[in-house]
Amino acid sequence: MPFAELLKRHRGRSGLTQQQLADFATLSVRAIRDLESGRVRRPRRESVGLLADALRLGAPERLQLHAAGGSPADHRPALCELPAPPAPPGALVGREAELQVLLDQVTVHGHRLVSVVGISGIGKTHLVLEAAEVLRARGWRVGWHSSAGDPLSCGGPPAADPGSGGPPARATEVTDDLAAAIGERHQLLVIDGDDAPGPGRVDVGALLRRCPGLRVVVTGLAPRHLPGERVLPLTAMAVPQEAREYDYARLSEVASVALFLSHMRRSRPGFRLREDNAHAVVRLCRWLDGVPRALEYAAGWCLVYSPELLLARAGRDSRLLSSPTGCACQNLLRSLARSVDAVGERYRQVLAEVADRPSWTAADIDHLVPDPAAALHALVIHGLVRPAGAHLPEQFTALQLVRLLYVEDRPAGGGPGR
Ligand SMILES: Nc1ncnc2c1ncn2[C@@H]1O[C@H](COP(=O)(O)OP(=O)(O)O)[C@@H](O)[C@H]1O
Ligand SMILES: [Mg+2]
Repeated sequence: MPFAELLKRHRGRSGLTQQQLADFATLSVRAIRDLESGRVRRPRRESVGLLADALRLGAPERLQLHAAGGSPADHRPALCELPAPPAPPGALVGREAELQVLLDQVTVHGHRLVSVVGISGIGKTHLVLEAAEVLRARGWRVGWHSSAGDPLSCGGPPAADPGSGGPPARATEVTDDLAAAIGERHQLLVIDGDDAPGPGRVDVGALLRRCPGLRVVVTGLAPRHLPGERVLPLTAMAVPQEAREYDYARLSEVASVALFLSHMRRSRPGFRLREDNAHAVVRLCRWLDGVPRALEYAAGWCLVYSPELLLARAGRDSRLLSSPTGCACQNLLRSLARSVDAVGERYRQVLAEVADRPSWTAADIDHLVPDPAAALHALVIHGLVRPAGAHLPEQFTALQLVRLLYVEDRPAGGGPGR
């Protein structure tokens, strides 16, 4: 079969337009047109390789395409496929705006590195999995690398268990392996669970330099501070306003309430918002700052306590902020402490000073640091501090969980210890 026919057939099967194929293969549309019309009969071997990559051809079809184009197949060792991302763990509640921004950063604006940052349990992994799924459906080649084992189970750092499967891979080895697998391909790599520095942390800067067609979305507690990096800080989900009476239908559409209810219904299928529980659910969602993992755990404990009782107890008993069923590493306060660790020492002192106050402004921390705005920015980016409310634009407040962290550690002196 002539090259032109074969190419058209493969493109037809892939559902790509000429423009899309050109984009994925980094060729011009004109080149695709010339090939498909038969004006160019003997394309360069590299171009055929790029087309085969973009069309995701398997080995036999790739050889056939090369043969039709009159060029011997490339005998470099075949690049291996990176694992594809797992499916998202369930429907994404809210976060429409964040998802759109993330997709736009990668596709429309063509940024090569987007960091999704925030505290553990805020929903970074879930969001990037959703984005990966959308992009895969649009024909993108998406690879997945997780250095934290199962990305969806645990908020803890990678298990440092030398007994299981030899020494941990070093960062350079992991980076080398990824670079070798990706080569010059055009693809997106999602790197998840890369919070903790140390073994296994991918050198994203080196990877981007070595793989010119690569784009990376990485999740972490903090930005990587690399050139060209775009940062998407993930803050808590929307929480409801307190009121004397509620419209239950509208209330259950507020993202944090919707998420809490979806978890509640898993363990108590008949649960509905009613006069006798709506106030407590609202206060619980607010108290937990709309942090998805905290809402999930709270809903789990509601098998034992009513929302009112849980609210009354959780402030005194931090075990109620952990998974009712899970391992000890799934402790929200402990994983939050890693975010506190990730901010600079000076800014940590600011946080210790203001954590207890209901709200404050940049001017209120003037006397604590020479760069109050930078301090505030760092605390917000790390997800430890949030705007106090829509009607108080310049006021900020620490997350309730951060407050609890400081209260818990106060007897030990000063800030949170580990
Ligand atoms: N927008 C959301 N909709 C539904 N569930 C969510 C959402 N965000 C987070 N979750 C759930 O909350 C938990 C923590 O989210 P995860 O993405 O693992 O957080 P992170 O990666 O920031 O630690 C997971 O069970 C996740 O499925
Ligand atoms: Mg995660």
